[in-house]
Order: sequence, then C-alpha cells, then structure tokens
Amino acid sequence: MSDQVRVCFIGAGGMATAVHYPSLADMDDVDLVGICDLNTERLEATADRYGVEGRFTDYRAMVEETQPDAIYIIMPPHHLYDLTIDCLEMGLNIFVEKPPGITAHQVTWMARYAEKNDVIGMVGWNRRFIPVLTHCREKVLAHSDRVQQVVSTFYKCHPDAQGPYYRVMPCTPLIRCAGWPAAR
Ligand SMILES: NC(=O)c1ccc[n+]([C@@H]2O[C@H](COP(=O)([O-])OP(=O)(O)OC[C@H]3O[C@@H](n4cnc5c(N)ncnc54)[C@H](O)[C@@H]3O)[C@@H](O)[C@H]2O)c1
Repeated sequence: MSDQVRVCFIGAGGMATAVHYPSLADMDDVDLVGICDLNTERLEATADRYGVEGRFTDYRAMVEETQPDAIYIIMPPHHLYDLTIDCLEMGLNIFVEKPPGITAHQVTWMARYAEKNDVIGMVGWNRRFIPVLTHCREKVLAHSDRVQQVVSTFYKCHPDAQGPYYRVMPCTPLIRCAGWPAAR
C-alpha cells in the first residue's frame, strides 16, 4: 500500500491554481491523480503544469477511474453544495474553500453527510492559522481564558501593492514581530 494520499481536484480556477495546486505539489505524501474542469483550456493548462495524467470534464468519471482518498472541490459557493454532497456520499474526504455554502442550512447538511459517511470534511479557513492571528490569540489568552468577542481589523500592507484596497501603511510592532514584512 502506498504511503501517499491520492487526491483529485474539481476546479482549475483562480484560487485553486494560485494556492492549492502549488501547495499539494510540494507535499511528498500527496499523489495528485486527477483533475476535472468543465473548461478544457484551464484543465489542460493546470494538468500540464503539474504533470497530472488524469484529465476529466465529468467528476464522477474521475472518481470512478482514479479511486481517490480525498477530493478538493474549489469553486464559488453557489456551485458547491450538490458536488460536495455527491462526493461525501461517494465516501470521499473533502476539502472546500470558504465560504462552504450560501446558507447555514447547506453547511449543516454538508457536516451531517460527512458524519454519516464517516469521512473528513475540511474548509479552508486559512486566516485562522496565519502566524499573526495565532500570535495575537496566544497574547489575548495569556490575559484571559474567557474571551467572548473579538473584533479585528486586517490591513493589507505589501509595500509594492497598488489600488484602494491595498494601502501602503506602516505595520505595528506586533505584526512585525509575528514575521510580517514592514511597509517601506
Ligand atoms: N481562503 C481564502 O483566503 C480565499 C481567497 C479567495 C477566494 N477564496 C474562495 O475560493 C473559491 C473560488 O475558487 P476559484 O477562484 O478557484 O474559483 P473559479 O471560479 O476561478 O474556478 C472554478 C472552476 O470550477 C470549474 N467548475 C465549475 N463547476 C464545475 C463542475 N461541475 N465540474 C467541473 N468543473 C467545474 C469552472 O469551470 C472553473 O474553472 C471561492 O469559494 C472563494 O470564496 C478563498
């Protein structure tokens, strides 16, 4: 039996190609066995870049042929529910991006189907794991173990960034000490 986790992908769009394919390609214990996208141009470009042989426009055919352990379903939330429930019913461990649905009801049912099929469901709430937030959380918890509400403001401060959303502004010492670059 291989030590690698066999992973399939539905979606070769913006977020998937910017973040998830490069991350998985870096992991020795992952075998990327199939990619499915309705857009064949994106499908071919992504599969070529990561040397993936399994290329599909029908995710059910992909699952049947490649027999993955887990599947990434990366697309906007309004397309997510039916695909996710179907994959959970096929007994696949799944990863979806945030937000995992367009209503709380959808998300509750995703969790129920994961439980019923005894598989793992994961949502990419990546901000929960970034160093600056875990650092701040530890600092707050050092003073109190009864945090009831947190209000945070997140400034993007890359020195080369342009545009109204990406303002160049000085970082606070707290952000610098958590390993973020200071703005010039
Ligand atoms: N975690 C973060 O910080 C963060 C940041 C930005 C975006 N996101 C999330 O990422 C998600 C968007 O991902 P994206 O940018 O890769 O999406 P995208 O719209 O660029 O790509 C989706 C792809 O899925 C394909 N597709 C749609 N339905 C399909 C089907 N039934 N079968 C096969 N392929 C199908 C489309 O052809 C498209 O190529 C959103 O949920 C968004 O909220 C998260």
